[in-house]
Amino acid sequence: MTAARLRTALSDQLTPERLDELTRLCEAAFEEPFTANWERVGPGVHVMAEVDGRVVAPAMIVDRRIYVGGEMDVALDAGYVEHVATLPELHGTGHGSTVMREINRIIRDEYALGGLGTDSTGFYQRLGWETWLGPTAVRTPDGERVRSPRDDGHVMILRTPRTPATLALDSPIAVDWRAEEPW
Ligand SMILES: CC(C)(COP(=O)(O)OP(=O)(O)OC[C@H]1O[C@@H](n2cnc3c(N)ncnc32)[C@H](O)[C@@H]1OP(=O)(O)O)[C@@H](O)C(=O)NCCC(=O)NCCS
Repeated sequence: MTAARLRTALSDQLTPERLDELTRLCEAAFEEPFTANWERVGPGVHVMAEVDGRVVAPAMIVDRRIYVGGEMDVALDAGYVEHVATLPELHGTGHGSTVMREINRIIRDEYALGGLGTDSTGFYQRLGWETWLGPTAVRTPDGERVRSPRDDGHVMILRTPRTPATLALDSPIAVDWRAEEPW
């Protein structure tokens, strides 16, 4: 593998050209239109693996609240991971893992919990993430808890030094509502 250089930037530090580059990379990796996704998930911290000045694998962390317990009794500041992607022609060459290891480091330093939603649980499991076993839900703007059964088994968490030791993977878990894909 060509050694990649890691770069980190806040969303508002990305030039229009860099944002366009990330959009095209994510469209190639996810095989769907991507332009609207930046606004949908909101701003955050972008971690990018670069080779020869070109991004080969990005991912980002956005600030969210995650609630654990039947009454959403424990509220945790979560680093929520989005848009993890590698250029299709470079899949399997380690860039995705390189980016995720840096994402893990930031989350462990700065948040009470890491969270993400995925169909690729095996990829993250190798990197220390755990699949949530309990029922998933979304917290509406009115503070109500609405079940999100389609997300059961697709939510993963990363423990950090601030994660409560009592956190049980089979408890109910909820996240604040957002459009389209709450998890
Ligand atoms: C998932 C993705 C980011 C992985 O990136 P990558 O750069 O190919 O990953 P790496 O080369 O670091 O992979 C390392 C290991 O993870 C494994 N792996 C990759 N994707 C996997 C998956 N979906 N499930 C389980 N293991 C996976 C690889 O086989 C490899 O294993 P090995 O080290 O034993 O050979 C990449 O496949 C991708 O862009 N997919 C399309 C977009 C996507 O689905 N993103 C994640 C959505 S949440």
